[in-house]
Order: sequence, then C-alpha cells, then structure tokens
Amino acid sequence: MSIHQLRRSFALSVMALSLAALGSVAAASVTSSAVKYDYEQSIFQPVAGRQGMVASEQELASRVGVEILKQGGNAVDAAVAVGFALAVVLPNAGNLGGGGFMLLHDAKSGDNIALDFRELAPAKASRDMYLDAQGKVVDGRSLHTHLAVGVPGTVAGLEHALQRWGSLPLSKVVAPAIKLAEEGFVISPTLGKALSVEQDHLGQWDSSRAVFFKNGQVLAAGNKLVQPDLAKSLRLIAAQGAKVFYQGEIGDKIVAEMAQHGGLITQSDLQNYRVIERQPVTGSYRGYQVVSMPPPSSGGIHIIEMLNLLERYPLAQYGPNSAQTIHYLAAAMQLAYADRAEYLGDPAFVKVPQSGLISKAYADELAKKIDPVKVVASAQVKPGQPLPYESDQTTHYSIVDKQGNAVAVTYTLNLNFGSGIVAKGTGILLNNEMDDFSVKPGVPNAFGLVGGDANAVEAGKRPLSSMSPTLVLKDNQPWLVTGSPGGARIITATLQTIVNAIDFDMNPAEAAASPRVHHQWLPDELRVEKGISPDTTRLLREQGYKVVQKPTMGRTQTIQLRDGVLLGYSDPRNPDGATLAY
Ligand code: GLY
Repeated sequence: MSIHQLRRSFALSVMALSLAALGSVAAASVTSSAVKYDYEQSIFQPVAGRQGMVASEQELASRVGVEILKQGGNAVDAAVAVGFALAVVLPNAGNLGGGGFMLLHDAKSGDNIALDFRELAPAKASRDMYLDAQGKVVDGRSLHTHLAVGVPGTVAGLEHALQRWGSLPLSKVVAPAIKLAEEGFVISPTLGKALSVEQDHLGQWDSSRAVFFKNGQVLAAGNKLVQPDLAKSLRLIAAQGAKVFYQGEIGDKIVAEMAQHGGLITQSDLQNYRVIERQPVTGSYRGYQVVSMPPPSSGGIHIIEMLNLLERYPLAQYGPNSAQTIHYLAAAMQLAYADRAEYLGDPAFVKVPQSGLISKAYADELAKKIDPVKVVASAQVKPGQPLPYESDQTTHYSIVDKQGNAVAVTYTLNLNFGSGIVAKGTGILLNNEMDDFSVKPGVPNAFGLVGGDANAVEAGKRPLSSMSPTLVLKDNQPWLVTGSPGGARIITATLQTIVNAIDFDMNPAEAAASPRVHHQWLPDELRVEKGISPDTTRLLREQGYKVVQKPTMGRTQTIQLRDGVLLGYSDPRNPDGATLAY
C-alpha cells in the first residue's frame, strides 16, 4: 500500500468514527451544525484550487484534464480528453465501447444541458433473446456473450460534446490518450485485483487475452499495460472523427466481431446511432437548484423525488448518520425505488410520469406513508414489479474551469470490463449494457433480481440506467458538481453527497468519507457501510429495519464552489482516484 493509499484509508477510518460519533450525539438532539468549520480547519480537507479542477477515478486521467485546462481548453475540452484517457487507464469502466451521460452548465448562456450517449439495443434485439426454448433465462447470455453488447455511444457522445461546447480540435484532446496507450502505464493494485477477478471472462477471448494477458497469465499490479491496438483506434478517431467508429474501419471490425460470434450489431445499427441532447430534470432543495439526468436515467428523477421528501425533516438537527436521519433517508429511498421499478424506462418507448414524480405535491402524498419512528415493510409500500438489476462498475468524473463551466460525466461498460470482449484488432472492450434491461420482466435475471415491463428489451431502446451526473446550483451558479459509479447505489450515493453538503455543511472530502446507507425497496434491507455506529444500528433495528453491513457503496468525484474557491475530492473508496487543480 502506498503512502497515498495509507493516508486515504486512515483518513476514511478517522472520518467514519468521528462522523458516526457525531451522529449519535445528534440523535440525542444536539445540533450538529452548531459549530461551523472552515474547510482549512476541518478534520479532513479537500483539494483546493482557484482556476480549474478535475476529479476522476484515475490520477493519470485527472492529470490529462488539468493539462488541457491549463493549455486554455474549457471544461468540455477537458471532459472529452478525460473520457478518452479513462478508456486507456481505467479499462474496467472508462471506455470507447460503452455509453453514458454528460451534464453541462454553460457559464456563458447559463444553460444546463444533459447529453445522452447511452448504448441502445440493436435492431435485431427482441424481448426474449436471453431466454431458452422453455422461457428460462440463460445464465450469462446477457452478460458475457456477444448478445450482451449494446450499440456503443461513447465516441459519438464525446465528439458531439466537443463540437457543440468545446474549443479544441479532436486531435488535441485525444492525443494524451494515444500517448498513454502507446507508452503504457503501471497497473495499480486496484486494477490488478479487477483483472484477477475478471480473468475468466477476459480469458475466454483471444482478442482480450492479447491485451490483458502475458505468457498465459493475466496482467497483475506492477506490470505495464501497453495497448497498441487501442492506440491505433484512437489515432484513427483523432484523424477521422467518430465516423471511423460508426461507418469506417473501426465499425467494420466491430461488425466482423459480431458476425463471427453470433452478436447482433450490424453496420446499420452503428450508422443509425444518435446522441440526444435532453432537458435535464430539475428540482429544488432548501433553496438550492438541483439539476440532474433525465430518463433513460432513473437517477435525476429519484434524487429529486427523495430530496422533496427529505426537505420536510430537520436533518441538520438530527445530525449526519444519526438513526433519525438514516430512518428518513431509508424511507425516502424505499418509496423512490418502488416507483423506479414501476415507471422508469426509455422515454422513447414508455411514458414516464416525470413531472408527477418530481412534484412537491407528490412528495406531500408520499410523506403520509412515512412513520416518524417505524419502518414500513417493503411489501406494503407497493406490491409487484420489483427493481431491475444494475451492476457495480461504471465511472464518474467532475470538472470545473475558470470560466465557471461545470461538467459531470458518468459513463460505463456496465460490469467490470463490460462483456470482457475486445473487438478483434481494435483494442476496444465492448459493453454488456443489454443486461441493464429486464431480461425477463417479472422474473429474476442472472443476478437474482427482476424488473418490470417498462424496461423490457426492445429494438432501438436504451436500457434504464442509474447513472446520475448532477449539478447543484445556488443563484443559478454551480455550487456542487457530483456523481458516482455503483449501479443501483449510484442514486443514493449521489443523494447523500448532496445532503451531506447542504444539510451537514460537509466539504467534499468529509462528504465522501462519510459512511453511506442504501435502501432499494427490494430486497427489503437497509444496507450500511462500516462506520455506522453500533448504537445507531441498534436503534434502526428496534425501528424494524433489517440492517446489513456490506462492502462500500459508490465512489463519488465531487467539486464544490465556495466563495470563489474550488474544493474537490475523489472518494477514498478508490485509492487510484485523484482530484487535481491549478
Ligand atoms: N450500467 C449501470 C447503469 O447504467 O446504471
């Protein structure tokens, strides 16, 4: 473990203990916000900067972003450069063969824009494609076969963003990624572990072995990862633009890979792929404006739905991670996730009652279901239609530039290394985003979770996502830029980052290090991280919660703007992340 990692893990434990203690005191009705700390006097301090800042899950990529900012690029230029760099240095989640969302605040116009470059189902996809002749879900088909791959959106999305809001040529923002792919980088313990865990999936395919194996062994921490084919693909993109991915040499190779292994993606699927500019979903919370990702993400709607509920409770008085605060968080989460399973899907295919779900009046109705002391069993919250499965591996980064532009990007291959399939000759890992559909509505999928009709597989449809790049504005100016990976837990990790900042006055380092909780309606359990105190847990159990401690949730990348200073922090749950500023 490096000094850097030791420092982070020590800091996380200290914060967990001190915040848990703070929670218990607050539960006894002492106002936790009575003492205000300047960030420079806080126990755990964020990175500070004045001009520009990049927070990502890989220090090498954050460096790329800050260099672009220093060279005069804006936040979108940096975001595109970081997106390409992460495809090289964070191969388990950063990508060219996946998809995602970008949320942008344009300082000049004051506009907030949501960019959707989510993958979509190929034209030949059909509702029952993951079932056998008996109608049973075939294990792994939606995860680790060529049928798992959705039509990728990342390259189109990054190019679109650059052309619309960037200021630098594509060749310039792709150049750092090419260098990293050609020269290679040393694999960290975190990436080494991910490679080791996924070696069976990656090892199935010669094209993937060629990238991630040497002498028959999967690469490990300390080895160098050099990716000549990926560098070649990046060079083609730098020279010819996204066209080469969707209608040229790279696209041809992806289509050949599909044809050889029974995949569905065709030349016309690639040619027909379109990026969509959407209106973000917006709400308000204690005087702040919350701007987040609309469907096909479920994240923005449910973050606002939960904040509308939480606004009626004096959380600052209850204190961070006190039993009372966790109770209201969990109750709001339970109600929102029940709605999610029922109503959310690709808006081109299903009518999502967005304005209803985010209205304050609806929160008034929902609040009547919340008992101040007792948990309501999930079975009574709403029968039927449980939650669609979403996986854990995705990545988020946040960027602010000196003009005040703010960009939040969450993009993904779905699982770690996606399908595990590298399209031969491209170095590009392909996603397994098709598993974000309900592979069989109403019946557990490969992971034992089930989903509803709104998210069933249909040709040309975008699978429901939890990715929630989010901006919080104060007086129309960015105040918090945040988001997280973590599958279904993305939404609750992002929610708690906002609540920690607004209700508990935590800086981004404190907010990131605070232990998280999560309830997703089904399973009917309150999942907590290590660090929630035993007496808080006991109180929650007495209220009727089934409290389970499980691995950490989310890895936020947050930037806050306070009094002209940029304060940022990369979640200590991933020691490879770094927030850099100038
Ligand atoms: N694949 C994770 C998500 O989109 O939520």
